[in-house]
Amino acid sequence: MIMEYKVAEVLIPENEIAKRVREIGEKIGKDYAGKDLVVVGILKGAVVFMSDLVRAIPETVNVSLDFMAVSSYGDSTKTSGIVRIVKDLDSSVKDKNVLIVEDIVDTGLTLSYLVKLMHERQPGTIRVCALLDKEERRKVSVHVEYKGFSIPDKFVVGYGLDYAGRWRNLPSVHIVEVLEQ
Ligand code: IMP
Ligand code: MG
Repeated sequence: MIMEYKVAEVLIPENEIAKRVREIGEKIGKDYAGKDLVVVGILKGAVVFMSDLVRAIPETVNVSLDFMAVSSYGDSTKTSGIVRIVKDLDSSVKDKNVLIVEDIVDTGLTLSYLVKLMHERQPGTIRVCALLDKEERRKVSVHVEYKGFSIPDKFVVGYGLDYAGRWRNLPSVHIVEVLEQ
């Protein structure tokens, strides 16, 4: 059987994402006003969300950017539970306020590992921001302070999220449909 995939219906349209990103940016602006904040994007999925998010944070927050890349998925839609650091931070986060930005929390394995790892680097504070949350799939609990949307247990792409490297460039979040032939 040949499996084909196509992007189907829009789950979250571009304009709703933009509105929610502005709200989260304002909230972060209030919470960190007058403070330094290191925004750590998890490559590659968080890149699109992060680039909009940081522009929604007011200039009263002294924002700097850093990135980490982890590999946990391969080309499959199922979590492997194995998290490998592919790219680490460029700068020390000791005593800094860290905000980890992720595209989606699914089982929670990736984020719980990253939060644990970040703690070992002794930042002043750590918080998590995720655009999407598939709550019903959670295996380990993670506290997400800033959340965009809770979504059903469907595989989604677009706005940075991919299936096998594809569809990150779509401006809206779509559900992936499997076509069996
Ligand atoms: P977790 O470790 O199971 O929470 O998985 C988190 C990672 O899995 C995310 O950073 C995504 O890369 C990937 N992921 C989980 N669900 C989806 C999805 O619906 N679309 C695209 N990527 C997903
Ligand atoms: Mg990811």
